[in-house]
Amino acid sequence: MAWSAERYLAFEDERTRPARELLARVPEIGDASIFDLGCGPGNSTELLIDRFGKSRVCGLDSDDDMLASAQRRLPDTPFLKADLADWRPSAPAGLFFANAVFQWLPDHPALFERLLDDLVPGGALAVQMPDNLDEPSHRMMEESAEAGRWRSHFIESVRRKPLPSAESYYDRLAPKSIRIDVWRTTYYHVMTGPEAIVDWVRATGLRPYLDRVPEDMRADFLADYTARIARAYLARKDGRVLLAFPRLFIVAIRT
Ligand SMILES: C[S@@+](CC[C@H](N)C(=O)[O-])C[C@H]1O[C@@H](n2cnc3c(N)ncnc32)[C@H](O)[C@@H]1O
Repeated sequence: MAWSAERYLAFEDERTRPARELLARVPEIGDASIFDLGCGPGNSTELLIDRFGKSRVCGLDSDDDMLASAQRRLPDTPFLKADLADWRPSAPAGLFFANAVFQWLPDHPALFERLLDDLVPGGALAVQMPDNLDEPSHRMMEESAEAGRWRSHFIESVRRKPLPSAESYYDRLAPKSIRIDVWRTTYYHVMTGPEAIVDWVRATGLRPYLDRVPEDMRADFLADYTARIARAYLARKDGRVLLAFPRLFIVAIRT
């Protein structure tokens, strides 16, 4: 199932905040090119342009709807279709910025090492990845997958691979870096109710599950999942629910 830029942007402020906080930790970097890896609808690309100007920023993504949306938003910026699993720049870059994409690539620690090799000295690799597989939002996906008449479609798991530890990223990147900054933040997003949490993950983590469920069972699957979410996220006194969302951040500066 392809991504939907429109669905993704329903929570644009919340999804862009970690990109802002990641960018705030990126130092000044010479004048080499800047790539927004997994640029999505261009929200993170816009932050890069605001800070570095538009002449050297380029967005990459593998999804047509996301690329079209990004191009509409930023008509003067180059957006290219590429798979980050095998993409390399044609010349050493100044910054690889990747907000909320590398969690989808199970072999990303090896890609990070390769990306460091493709930076100019003093260039930066700046990455943020959701680290939320242990949260109810994601545990309930697994429970729902195993619960209904769609169970046979999940014999092969669709669960994302958990992120390695912060320490293991440090150990891998330290030999090629003059400085590494690693941190983890848990956001508590204020949501109108359980349905809003379902809408949030429908644009991201729930997609591979919905992909697997045959179309005629999808409504029942969503109802099962929504009921579990409603039990897991209790309403606060004002009726809203808090979506706890841990994210891991890494900024590595190349030697
Ligand atoms: C959650 S969105 C992040 C969008 C944006 N960077 C932001 O800050 O909100 C993840 C994006 O990564 C893209 N993506 C996922 N796997 C990819 C891959 N292997 N190569 C390129 N892009 C990929 C998706 O198409 C999607 O647009």
